[in-house]
Amino acid sequence: MSEAANLTTDRPLDLEAVRRDFPILQERIYGNRLVFLDSGASAQKPQAVLDAIRDAYEHSYANVHRGVYQLSQKATDLYEGARETVRAFINAGAVEEVIFTGNATQALNLVANAFGSMLERGDEVVISHMEHHSNIVPWQLLRDRAGIVLKVAPIDERGVLDLDALEGLLGPRTKLISITHVANALGTIVPIEKVVAMAKARGIPVMVDGSQAVQHMPVDVRALDVDFYVFTGHKVYGPSGIGVLYGRKEMLEKMPPWIGGGDMILSVTFDETVYNDLPYKFEAGTPNIVGAIGLAAALDYVTGLGRERIAAHEADVLAYAHRQLGQFNNLRLIGTAPDKAGVVSFLMEGAHPHDVGTILDRQGVAVRVGHHCAQPLMERLEIPGTVRASFGVYNGRDDVDALVAALAKVSEIFG
Ligand SMILES: Cc1ncc(COP(=O)(O)O)c(C=O)c1O
Repeated sequence: MSEAANLTTDRPLDLEAVRRDFPILQERIYGNRLVFLDSGASAQKPQAVLDAIRDAYEHSYANVHRGVYQLSQKATDLYEGARETVRAFINAGAVEEVIFTGNATQALNLVANAFGSMLERGDEVVISHMEHHSNIVPWQLLRDRAGIVLKVAPIDERGVLDLDALEGLLGPRTKLISITHVANALGTIVPIEKVVAMAKARGIPVMVDGSQAVQHMPVDVRALDVDFYVFTGHKVYGPSGIGVLYGRKEMLEKMPPWIGGGDMILSVTFDETVYNDLPYKFEAGTPNIVGAIGLAAALDYVTGLGRERIAAHEADVLAYAHRQLGQFNNLRLIGTAPDKAGVVSFLMEGAHPHDVGTILDRQGVAVRVGHHCAQPLMERLEIPGTVRASFGVYNGRDDVDALVAALAKVSEIFG
């Protein structure tokens, strides 16, 4: 267990202890301390995750579910143990409801294809205006293939979902609402409980993209009463190449498989294939075995720190960032919803986001610039893109101070 994980729940996050858990934070960038403000794109990995990955390859590696020998059994136990860790992390009712995928994108595509194959021409899927492309394009592919209708719930200037307008889009042909939990470009937290309440009143299932949520706050899929919940390993301090689809058992059982191959079958003849039980029906081919093991180590790490405590720490950093950035009269915040997590997006007058990002980088401050895979949102806000600082457990007020100092240089150059 990490040093930081030993803290008791009534104490705030011990930032210095957390930072010691992340070896990459020792790297120097152009001679500066690394101020990593791009965890929304991909988070850094704690030593516990690095150790779990190395340990699995050194001591427990073989293919899973197939070997009669001890090493394969050991790998299978770790892989299936990881599934249980995920189940507990999101409080799913059963391990069968946890499907490992390659990332969030693949999980969203799985539902768009498998659930989508049960939809008929003219059936409707509702998304919001602040989705990541991975919760837009799979539905457009389905629209082009199967004639479904894609409806988009609007947002206001602050980046707050218009719940009344969303409700107005729901009708007898609505077959699914697929919506983000936290908007990646703005940080808006969507009130999923309210979305679910209006969906359930009409018998409409709900899928939530939690790619920007699970690393910031406790998530309980049963309390939320969602039908599908998706997240991606690399944003929650785990490795890349591993993602999760939670699906309510009744839903997953109804859905046909999406990808066919090894492991997802019980028997195959040239005439007929009998599909495997859940969750394997949706896990064709050799899975990312060590990715799942690394993800479990990441979730254990996050659980050890305490998600309430992480949320409280990050809320403080976010509020501080909003206050400090307020001192620039040439800076425009993009995304001012009252309920936000982990993200500050902004524009500097007269400076292209790419130039801002480059100047910040020379000072050791890593941010993301561009459209953040949310081009329809950028179009809605009539901007080409933003500079986005996104926070993780290892960020503190000193990182915000470093950002502010670096932005002062930008102001000097472009002011
Ligand atoms: C809200 C949201 N959904 C989905 C994704 C896609 O994640 P991945 O690229 O790991 O599939 C991202 C990544 O930026 C995201 O922010």
